[in-house]
Amino acid sequence: MIVAIDGPAGAGKSTVARKLAERLGFRYLDTGAMYRALTWLALREGLPLGDPEPLGELARRSPVVFDEVGRVFIAGSDVTAAIRQSRIDQVVPVVARHHPVREVMRERQRELGLQGNAVIEGRDIGTVVAPDAAVKIYLQADPEVRAARRQKERPDIGADALATDLRARDKSDRERMQPAGDAVLIDTTGLEVDDVVTRIEGLVRERSLATS
Ligand code: CDP
Repeated sequence: MIVAIDGPAGAGKSTVARKLAERLGFRYLDTGAMYRALTWLALREGLPLGDPEPLGELARRSPVVFDEVGRVFIAGSDVTAAIRQSRIDQVVPVVARHHPVREVMRERQRELGLQGNAVIEGRDIGTVVAPDAAVKIYLQADPEVRAARRQKERPDIGADALATDLRARDKSDRERMQPAGDAVLIDTTGLEVDDVVTRIEGLVRERSLATS
C-alpha cells in the first residue's frame, strides 16, 4: 500500500511522514531529498542550473541512495546535512522543474514505491508518481506558521530572508504542482504532530480494512 503525503514547505510533511511510517512499519521515501541531493551535486560540478539535458544526465548517472537510518548519499558523498542549507532551498525548484530531471526521479520513485508498503512524501506523489495511492493526504498550514517552523531548522538564514525564499518557492512549486483532486486536505496550523499522524493512521487502517 502507498500513502502519498504532499504539501508545501513547513506544512509538516517530513515529520508527519516519518512518524507515520514508523507507526505503520512502512518504508519512508522523501522525494524532496532526491531533488535536493541532485541540486547539491549540480552546484558542486558547476553545471548551469538552467540547462535541462545535462541535469537529466547527471540525475541518471548519479542515483540518490538512502540508507536504513535515512541518511542521503549521492555520488559517494553523505549529503544528509548539506541538502538542508538555505542555499539549496533557494535553487532546488530551478533544478526540479526540468522535465528530463523529473522523468528520472519519478521513474526511481515509482521503483522504490513498488517494493511494498511505503509512505512517500513530496509535491506530486498523489498526482503523478503514485496516482493509485490508497491514501492521499495534502498537508497545508498558514504561511507564518510554516515560516516559523522552517526557521527552527535553518539557523543559517534570517527570518525575513527565509520568509521571502519560502514565498518564492511556493510560487514556483504551485505553478507546476497542485493537490490531487481526491486528496484529504489537513490544515496543520493548530495541530500537534501526533494528532496529524493519528488522523492519517486512522485513514490508512480504514482503507486496509475496506480492501482486505
Ligand atoms: O521540506 P520542503 O517542503 O522544504 O522541501 P522538500 O520536500 O525537500 O522539496 C524541496 C523542493 O524540491 C521543492 O520546493 C520542489 O521544488 C522540489 N520537489 C519537487 O519538485 N517534487 C517533489 N516530489 C518533491 C520536491
